[in-house]
Amino acid sequence: MSTLKINSLKAYRKAYQESIKDPEAFWSRQAETFVWKKKWKKTLDWDFQKPDVKWFIGGKLNITENCLDRHLAERGGETALIWEPNDPSQKFKTYTYQALYEAVCQCANALKANGVKKGDRICFYMPMVPELTIGILACARIGAIHSVVFAGFSATALADRIKDASCSMVICSDYNARGAKNIPVKAVVDEALKMGCKSVKTVLVHQNTGEKVRWKKSRDKWWHEELSRRRKTCKATAMDAEDVLFILYTSGSTGKPKGVVHTCGGYMVYTCFSFQNVFQYEQGDVYWCTADIGWITGHSYIVYGPLLAGATTIMSEGVPTYPDAGRFWHICEKHKVNQFYTAPTAIRALMAQGDHWPTHYDLSELKVLGTVGEPINEEAWHWYNEKIGKGKCPIVDTWWQTETGGIMIAGLGDISPIKPTYAGLPLPGIQACLVDAEGNEITGNDQEGLLCIKFPWPSMIRTTYGDHERCRNVYFSAFEDKYFTGDGARRDKDGLYRIIGRVDDVINVSGHRMGTAEVENAINEHPEVIESAVVGYPHEIKGQGIYAYVIVNAAVKDEDRFRKEVLKVVTREIGPIAKPDRIQLVSGLPKTRSGKIMRRILRKIASGDTKNLGDISTLLNPEVVEAVKKGALA
Ligand code: WT7
Repeated sequence: MSTLKINSLKAYRKAYQESIKDPEAFWSRQAETFVWKKKWKKTLDWDFQKPDVKWFIGGKLNITENCLDRHLAERGGETALIWEPNDPSQKFKTYTYQALYEAVCQCANALKANGVKKGDRICFYMPMVPELTIGILACARIGAIHSVVFAGFSATALADRIKDASCSMVICSDYNARGAKNIPVKAVVDEALKMGCKSVKTVLVHQNTGEKVRWKKSRDKWWHEELSRRRKTCKATAMDAEDVLFILYTSGSTGKPKGVVHTCGGYMVYTCFSFQNVFQYEQGDVYWCTADIGWITGHSYIVYGPLLAGATTIMSEGVPTYPDAGRFWHICEKHKVNQFYTAPTAIRALMAQGDHWPTHYDLSELKVLGTVGEPINEEAWHWYNEKIGKGKCPIVDTWWQTETGGIMIAGLGDISPIKPTYAGLPLPGIQACLVDAEGNEITGNDQEGLLCIKFPWPSMIRTTYGDHERCRNVYFSAFEDKYFTGDGARRDKDGLYRIIGRVDDVINVSGHRMGTAEVENAINEHPEVIESAVVGYPHEIKGQGIYAYVIVNAAVKDEDRFRKEVLKVVTREIGPIAKPDRIQLVSGLPKTRSGKIMRRILRKIASGDTKNLGDISTLLNPEVVEAVKKGALA
C-alpha cells in the first residue's frame, strides 16, 4: 500500500481541493496506508496560539517498521541503500532492505545493551557513512531521539547542542574522509566533551578510516565491537504518534540555535507522501539526494521519505569536486540515477568549472531533477535544465524548511506547472498564503508578501526543544493563527510561488542557514572586538556571502593579522561554514535612536549599492554612514 500517487495535473487539483475541504479525511486516508500498532482515535487537534498541534492522536506506530519491516516480504532482496565513498577507487556498498533491517536491529540491540532507553537523546556527529543511517534508524527502532549534528560544526557548536538536549550518548566516526582531507572527527568530540557535557556517558565510535584515535576507556566503545554478535532482530518499540522522533538544530534570528522537534506519525506520513509525489518515484528507480544527513534534507529525503516509499536511495560521502568536477555525473552514470536532488550552490560551483564535465557521462537515465535550500537563479536553472537534464527532465524547485519537515511548495515531477526560479504550487494539504506587514492576507494573485501557512500539516514543527515559548514567539506570534516562515515570496498570476528570501536576520550561505547574530557572537569572542554587525550580500557561487563590519579597539595595528584571527575564532565557535567572506573594520555602526543597528543600510553597502540608502536622517549617528561607505570592500 502506498500514499496517494498523483499522476496528472487534474489529480493534483483534485487532491489539493480535497485536502483543503477536509484535511482530516485526506490525511487519514494517507495514514491508513502505513502499518500502525494501534489506530488513531482522532486525526487532528490544533491551536496555533499555544502552539499545540497533534496528528493521529492515540495512534501507535514505529517508523522503522514502515521503513523496513513492511518491505521485507515484497522487496527484501532489493536495494534500499547505496553508499558511494569519497574515494572513487574504493568500492561502493549496497544494502538490501533485508540487510539494512538486520543492521538496524543489530545496532538497536547494541544501543539497548548500552543502556539507551525510549526518550533518551542520542547525538550523532558523523560523516556520510551508512552507519549514520543505520544508527538513526536504530534510535527510532527503540524510541530514542536522535539529534544529528552536521560534522562540519566545531567542538563548541557540538557541545552547545549536546548540552541543550542533554544527550546521553554520542555516536561518531574516527575520521572523515572528505575530498583530499582527512578530518579527525573523534578528536572534535573529545574536545566538545571537555566543555561540560555532563550528560554523556558513552561515546560509540565507528571505525571509518581506521587511523589512531585517543581513547577514554571508561567512556569510549567501538561500534564494531558493540554490534558484533548482537541479534539481527529487535522488537520495534510502540511509539505514540506524537512521541518525539528527532531533534534537529537550526539557526534563527537570535544567537542560539534552536532544536526543532519532529514527531513520529505526522512526519512519517508527510515525508513519504511528498517524496513519492515531488520526485514521481516509481518502484525500481534509483534516487540520489546529495545533501548531508546533518541537515533536514538528508533526514527527510535521504533516509525517511525514500525508505518509507521502498525506494533505492544513494548516500554519498564525498564532495562535488573531488577528485574532479565530474564526480556527481560519474555517480549518476554509474548507478543509473533516475531522480537527482541537489542545491543551487552546487550547481553554480559545477557550472563555473565548465560545460564539458557532464558531457563525459551518460545521464540518459535521469527523469527528474530537484533543487533545494535557496533560491535558484535563472542562469543556474537553465544550465541544470540543458546540460544535465538535456531539456527533458522537469526541475522541481522545492521550497521548505527544517521546521516544515517536508517539501511544502514544489512542482510534482512533470505534472504541475514549472517556471524557472519559481518553486511553484503548494503540495496538497499546504495552505500557503501571503500577508502584508500588518498581517492582512493578500488574496489576489500577482502579489508579493510574507509567506505564511494557515493550517497545520502533518510534518510541522511541534516545539523547540526545552523552550516552547521560543517556538510560539518565532513562528506563531507574528501573525495570528498562522505559521510564519520568515521568507518573503511573490505569487504570480497563476498562483505559482517564487521565494524571494529571508526577511529576518537569517542568511543563506551555500544553502546553509545561518543567523547573523550567531556569527556576530562568534566574532565578538575575539578580545580586540568591541562590536560587530553581520549581513549577507549577493555571492556568485554561495548565493549569499557573509559580510562583517567590525569595530575594534586600539590594539589592532595589523589588520591582516586581525582578519585571520577572526576567521579562526569563527571556525572555533561555529565551524568553517560561518567564516566571513569580507571583514570591514569600521569606527562606528549606523544606529537608530533606540540603539538598534540599521542592518538595512549595512546590507545595501555590502551589496555595493551605496546610492539608494534611503532616509538616514533619523539615525543616531548619520555621520558614520559616509565612513562605512568609503571603506566598503568589493
Ligand atoms: C530556508 C530554510 C529545507 C531544505 C534545506 C534548507 C530557504 C529553502 C528554498 C527554495 C528558495 C529556499 C528559505 C527557507 N529555502 N528551499 N527552494 N527556494 N529558498 O532548510 O536550513 O531550514 O532553511 O531556506 O529561505 O526559509 P533550512
